[in-house]
Amino acid sequence: MNIVIIGTGYVGLTSGIGYAKLGNRVACVDIDAEKIAKLDLGHVPFYEIGMTEALHQEQELGSIVFTTDLSAVLGEAEVILLAVGTPSTSTGEANLSFLFQAAKEIGKYLDHEVVIVTKSTVPVGTNRRVLATIQESMNVSGRSDLTSLIQIASVPEFLREGSALKDFMEPERIVVGAEDEVVFAVVEAMHYGIKTTWVKTSIETAELTKYAANAMLATKISFINEIANIAERTGANVRDIAYAIGLDSRIGPHFLQAGIGYGGSCFPKDVSALHQIAGANGYDFKLLAAVIEVNNRQRDLFVKKIQEVLGNLKGRRLAVWGLAFKSGTDDVRESASLEIVRRLYALGADLCAFDPKAEVSARRMLPEGISFASTAIDAAEGADALVVLTEWPEFRDVSFPTLKARMIDPIIFDGRNHLADLSLSKFGFRYYGVGVCPSDRS
Ligand SMILES: NC(=O)c1ccc[n+]([C@@H]2O[C@H](COP(=O)([O-])OP(=O)(O)OC[C@H]3O[C@@H](n4cnc5c(N)ncnc54)[C@H](O)[C@@H]3O)[C@@H](O)[C@H]2O)c1
Repeated sequence: MNIVIIGTGYVGLTSGIGYAKLGNRVACVDIDAEKIAKLDLGHVPFYEIGMTEALHQEQELGSIVFTTDLSAVLGEAEVILLAVGTPSTSTGEANLSFLFQAAKEIGKYLDHEVVIVTKSTVPVGTNRRVLATIQESMNVSGRSDLTSLIQIASVPEFLREGSALKDFMEPERIVVGAEDEVVFAVVEAMHYGIKTTWVKTSIETAELTKYAANAMLATKISFINEIANIAERTGANVRDIAYAIGLDSRIGPHFLQAGIGYGGSCFPKDVSALHQIAGANGYDFKLLAAVIEVNNRQRDLFVKKIQEVLGNLKGRRLAVWGLAFKSGTDDVRESASLEIVRRLYALGADLCAFDPKAEVSARRMLPEGISFASTAIDAAEGADALVVLTEWPEFRDVSFPTLKARMIDPIIFDGRNHLADLSLSKFGFRYYGVGVCPSDRS
């Protein structure tokens, strides 16, 4: 099929490469000319495992092209996929301006039958508004006779950064919200070759499903963080609790890692947006308000813990390991790690950070006074303590005797419990995790 993708970010690019791999012809469109120029030359503008190789493969086959000119590629399109960003507004709602701008642009040029597929995460009712916006724009451009040829489907994306391509090719489910059997068939055809569970439902249900999924995951994280805080106060170990409850198939082991809370480009904005959607529909979603509050408090508690152990942070040298919102990506959007770094900096700490992939993206978002090292060990040179904020696997492989020798004080604050099982006390470290007592080092 001929697929035009509008918005070539994490979701748009992954989808573009994925649909091309499935045998479709894909044109990726973006308003960011620099990004498109880089992609055209085969440079992926973010770190994602396997993405560059997969892009080169499809470019060599000629199955994917990049452009800023929507009008140039729209003529052939059988499907137009919307993958523009839907960030939070200052009041927590989804900002839909990129989406409606794209919809207007589509309407300006569209002159044939097409299915619009929305992958962006959008509040309930948005897909119908997108369709109406495209049709209004067609009316303005004198093509009102063709508006009935445009149909829409909500196909929310569930990929995870760090395993984006794999998640695209092997999704646990594909949710399609549509009103017409032909639309369901088109969406199935563009995914031909993917084995998965299909959930065919109404447009509103598909829209809300995406928010429900992210809100559920965020709830698990805030829940285990609450348990961690009780564990700390009672001498229990949250890691063992998480393991034990995770063995219960009704609960499952995932998203039960206590720490500094969730971040990233999706959870914070989607949880806030769902809270807003509930409020706008006259419903007070109390649980979600608590999930957000717990997540924010988790950062406060972690910084407070560092202050309690080290005292005044003014001029204290702290090594920071990890800036990305999670390992496997250089994405720092709404990263809890960055938030902690900003707070420590504001308290006067002298910070030296290392992240294996996210330094470039993090530098843009952090105060200039923070320095960066090119290895984890170098970051710890002369440090009064080490603060671990992202769970990069390589942090577990450093030489801990060397690390200790390079630090002034062998103190580790681990915001991800990433090193909790390494018995660091045997190397002479004082280890502080989240929900594991300082004495509890196993
Ligand atoms: N990143 C994820 O892991 C993820 C996972 C699932 C769902 N989502 C959802 O997918 C959507 C996209 O997320 P993302 O992380 O890929 O965003 P992103 O910010 O990485 O990419 C969005 C792209 O859209 C482009 N854009 C904006 N307006 C445009 C327009 N009018 N025409 C053409 N291009 C335009 C931007 O320049 C940008 O390159 C969001 O709704 C997000 O919530 C993201």
